[in-house]
Amino acid sequence: MTILVTGGAGFIGANFILEWMRRGDEAVVNLDALTYAGNADNLASLQGDARYDFVCGDIKDRKLVDRLLRRYAPRAVVHFAAESHVDRSIHGPDAFIQTNVFGTFTLLEAARSYWSGLSGADRDDFRFLNVSTDEVYGSLEHDDPAFTENSCYRPNSPYSASKAAADHLVRAWHHTYGLPVLVSNCSNNYGPRQFPEKLIPLAITNALCGKPLPVYGDGMSVRDWLYVGDHCSALQAVLEGGVPGEVYNIGGRNEVSALEVVKGVCELLDELHPDRAGPYSRLITFVKDRPGHDRRYAIDPGKAEYALAWSAVESFASGLRKTVDWYLANREWTDNVQSGAYQHWITRNYEARG
Ligand code: NAD
Ligand code: TYD
Repeated sequence: MTILVTGGAGFIGANFILEWMRRGDEAVVNLDALTYAGNADNLASLQGDARYDFVCGDIKDRKLVDRLLRRYAPRAVVHFAAESHVDRSIHGPDAFIQTNVFGTFTLLEAARSYWSGLSGADRDDFRFLNVSTDEVYGSLEHDDPAFTENSCYRPNSPYSASKAAADHLVRAWHHTYGLPVLVSNCSNNYGPRQFPEKLIPLAITNALCGKPLPVYGDGMSVRDWLYVGDHCSALQAVLEGGVPGEVYNIGGRNEVSALEVVKGVCELLDELHPDRAGPYSRLITFVKDRPGHDRRYAIDPGKAEYALAWSAVESFASGLRKTVDWYLANREWTDNVQSGAYQHWITRNYEARG
């Protein structure tokens, strides 16, 4: 048996594949275009493993996807591939529409054609798991209840709008064609191998270089932080026990503001890697807010906990410590991804924030 993973060289996809290979024998083929966010080094430990194949290619390439489905005959597609950074979507939405909307459409059509040709148990057991985000539900006020699977879609950024569009396509392909899809909407992830454009790895890597730790606006934007390992175990549970056509919200019940997150990183670094110049919190710098910045996300993971017997294992404190430990032990990884293109992005995103 084989599963086809898209975007497996990125942050969550790579953690998912590594965990998948640790837990069982089932083969994985990983289709990834290796954009700036994809890093084949993430899966270097699988080199030579007969159960793992990497294909460098684009999910928008229908012929390639058709060929892979025919060749590997996967029992499931786990779809991570996406443009994933809100700030980048504000600067340049085009790639988000191309990959997140058109790319998902291409995969759905290829999967539909492949699945239609299956019969018996192969057809009954096939699954298309769309890995989505809580950002499709929009922003919550301070005292609103957390998002459930029945919350309305109110995406506010080009990123979340493109993910919402993809979710709608996935839903329609189930409703109209019967494709056995599953959708997971997860809160903000953090952990090893996250590209340092997102808040937590950015704060760790900037602090280690003595650079400012940029906090948008008043720093009170709240996210429901989930350790990536907990997201990966949830996705396995959705794949194995999820009911086709159903949506599962995944979150860790860990609501923390951006400012508290950055302070938490500083405290851990003070303990694990003290700086002679003083506490890392001296580097915290308030900068101009993100346009249309969503104030608060919070997930009610009750359905996944009840229906799939899944729950998050890490608290925010234990997960953040594991994350800081990983970045301290893997400075070379960070050095390798902070290329010229990365520096260009940092200049573009932060120079206008003053
Ligand atoms: P990421 O940006 O780290 O990785 C994305 C991967 O997709 C990269 O390896 C990239 O090379 C690949 N990719 C991009 N365009 C492609 C294309 N056209 N064809 C093939 N491969 C392509 O993203 P991530 O943080 O690992 O997120 C993975 C998925 O999980 C995304 O769909 C994202 O929307 C979703 N998600 C992320 C979070 C989070 O906090 N990071 C939370 C909830 C859901
Ligand atoms: P981010 O990691 O980009 O994830 P998302 O926007 O998808 O939630 O940002 C997390 C939170 O941190 C968000 O409220 C924006 C804030 N933030 C900063 O304050 N400073 C930064 O430099 C970045 C990248 C984000």
